Amino acid sequence: MKNLHYLITLILSLTIGIAKAGEGMWIPMLLQYNEKEMQEMGMRITAEDIYSINHSSLKDAIVLFGGGCTGEIVSDLGLLLTNHHCGYDYIQKHSSVEHDYLTNGFWAMNRGEELPCPGLSVIFLREMRDVTEKILTGIDVDMPEDERQAKIDENIKKTIAAVEKETSYKVSIRPFFLGNEYYLLLNETYTDVRLVGCPPSNIGKFGGDTDNWVWPRHTGDFSVFRVYADKDGHPAVYSEDNIPYKPDKHLDISLKGADEGDFAFVFGYPARTNEYLPAVAVDQEANLIDPITVDLRGKVLDIYNKYQEQDPKVRIQYASKHAGIGNGWKKWMGVTEGINHFHGVEKKRAFEQDFQEWALGARNRYMYIDLLKNFERSYKELEPYQLAYTYVAEAGLRIELVSFAGRFAKLSEVAKDTPQEDIDKMIATLKKSSEAFFKDYYEPIDREVAAMLLKEYLKAQPADFRPGFLNDIKDVDNYVEQLFAKSMFTDEAKVNELLDNFRPNKAKKLANDPALKAYQSLIGFYRNEVYDRISDLNANIDRMRRLYMKGQMEMQPDKRLFPDANFTLRVTYGKVEGFRPQDGKTYRHFTTLEGIMEKENPDIYDYVVEPKLKDLYDKKDYGRYADKDGTMHVAFTASVHTTGGNSGSPILNADGQLLGLNFDRCWEGTMSDLIYDPDICRNISVDIRYVLFIIDKFAGAKHLIDEMTIVE
Ligand code: ARG
Ligand code: GLU
Repeated sequence: MKNLHYLITLILSLTIGIAKAGEGMWIPMLLQYNEKEMQEMGMRITAEDIYSINHSSLKDAIVLFGGGCTGEIVSDLGLLLTNHHCGYDYIQKHSSVEHDYLTNGFWAMNRGEELPCPGLSVIFLREMRDVTEKILTGIDVDMPEDERQAKIDENIKKTIAAVEKETSYKVSIRPFFLGNEYYLLLNETYTDVRLVGCPPSNIGKFGGDTDNWVWPRHTGDFSVFRVYADKDGHPAVYSEDNIPYKPDKHLDISLKGADEGDFAFVFGYPARTNEYLPAVAVDQEANLIDPITVDLRGKVLDIYNKYQEQDPKVRIQYASKHAGIGNGWKKWMGVTEGINHFHGVEKKRAFEQDFQEWALGARNRYMYIDLLKNFERSYKELEPYQLAYTYVAEAGLRIELVSFAGRFAKLSEVAKDTPQEDIDKMIATLKKSSEAFFKDYYEPIDREVAAMLLKEYLKAQPADFRPGFLNDIKDVDNYVEQLFAKSMFTDEAKVNELLDNFRPNKAKKLANDPALKAYQSLIGFYRNEVYDRISDLNANIDRMRRLYMKGQMEMQPDKRLFPDANFTLRVTYGKVEGFRPQDGKTYRHFTTLEGIMEKENPDIYDYVVEPKLKDLYDKKDYGRYADKDGTMHVAFTASVHTTGGNSGSPILNADGQLLGLNFDRCWEGTMSDLIYDPDICRNISVDIRYVLFIIDKFAGAKHLIDEMTIVE
């Protein structure tokens, strides 16, 4: 009997994929349901210590930082840690040739030296409530979609208005489980946030894009800010009179480090996942769309690399473009690999068979029995449009000349009666953007990219479903030759001449520029033949996904399901551990300063090591920040389910003390946005001891350490 039970459990766990340790992005207010498992895995605190509305809890130390990352408060004086790449924009805004904080780092040696960051805000979650019943009142499953949405909007408005009467916090309501549940959030936003410190890029971005998404990793990806409040502790716009914000709770910092197998959790703001997609959608994404994008981007990057290696000026010009294209390129490569390695599509299909069987006997069977069949049809219908979109974005508009010309589309439509004021505004914007464009434009790259991409486009997309200008091309090389010879947009002087002396009667000539015509053809095709269809099909798919989610919840009443990430605060937990990405290859869970010295290469921008860091390394001057093995640990991996937006999130130990800052994932496991596999999905964090070592020993900003609560 026991064996039979075991067998059934095994089969179930293979097919349904019972939420595996490590998987899941949990709603903090519901953490009592995870508490037992977390404690069995080693946690020594309670769910109430993590999220409480009755007393201070860890949640009071966590913020949404700058709208896209996570930050955490680490002192009673509002000191905040996040990633270097999250603070990057603000560091950059304060940098100039005289004060190059990106290159050299920056440290405020007292509060007076801290730099205000206009536009930067941090958001605290004060409370969360389940309002599903209120929001779904008056909704029945057979309602037409628009009627349903109208009713929901009305309920949301009413509910928010009622709660607003009793609170000064910002009230909002967000859908969870694809619209099957709704939660109300009470938030407080602080806008006086100042830059306190950051390491030089050689540390904060060490490894750069070469190492991005890759383990082993040696990036000191952190920066330090401070939140300010008015004298009563309330949010206030920047003022010299503001005082450091005193949080209800700040994080304690552990110097003990983390050993393999230790419990760890991440507390932060994951942005978006799609864990409940049907197999057909996962297949389409992982095996059709992502590989095409990866292939096109890879070919573009090859061309960038070739020229970047030849000329240091070009290397800098294309560094940021390279980073932007390269981030998705590497990630999606990992998605495809991971899905196939894990047999993700097959596992989803096996689950769907179970679902279908369940649906046939379900109470509301009529809602569910056709879903999977309809998914197949709808995603098939979507496919050509998805492809069309991919080629417009990744092939057409990737040609810099074409997308730059596109910025002049409005100007080319100016007529005699266009108010001069409007024209002046357009000209002013275009002047700025063309100055920035030409600063980083290298025509030989773009020519080669254009010829390559157009050939790919023509090869892949059918003549009756692609932008018209492509069908007029007889010979790509010849077309590109003419395009670059005849377009004015390759020539800064000509563009300036146009902008300086623009008259409405020049609009027509502008509109005839071949690069602008190519742009109009791409956009016109997308607008007229793709966009509406994609929107319609997706609206229907969203409705089906909501039902499918509802069905999955009904089918597995005892299984703890987690809602997809939606930029709300979540707790995710697992273990500190390395992994085996491939047969015969094992990754240890941590890296050390030795690895930085091994990677050092003064000729490669990403691997230049600061002399001062080398000096500290040579002297082994690590103070109390060294690991018990005597080395300086830099980064570590864990089987904790994270995604974009979790950058800067604290990774905490069994006692809820800070171990490090999450900043990336290993590319082999980036499929975790679609399916999580505890064997290969790993998040990457910078070890807090390395962060403190840099602040203290490297930067000499010991006064910051003194503010923190350090647990030895
Ligand atoms: N891959 C990380 C993320 O998706 C880090 C990106 C920034 N770092 C970099 N080297 N480009 O955001
Ligand atoms: N680097 C990502 C971020 O900025 C985190 C990496 C991931 O996608 O997990 O949020």
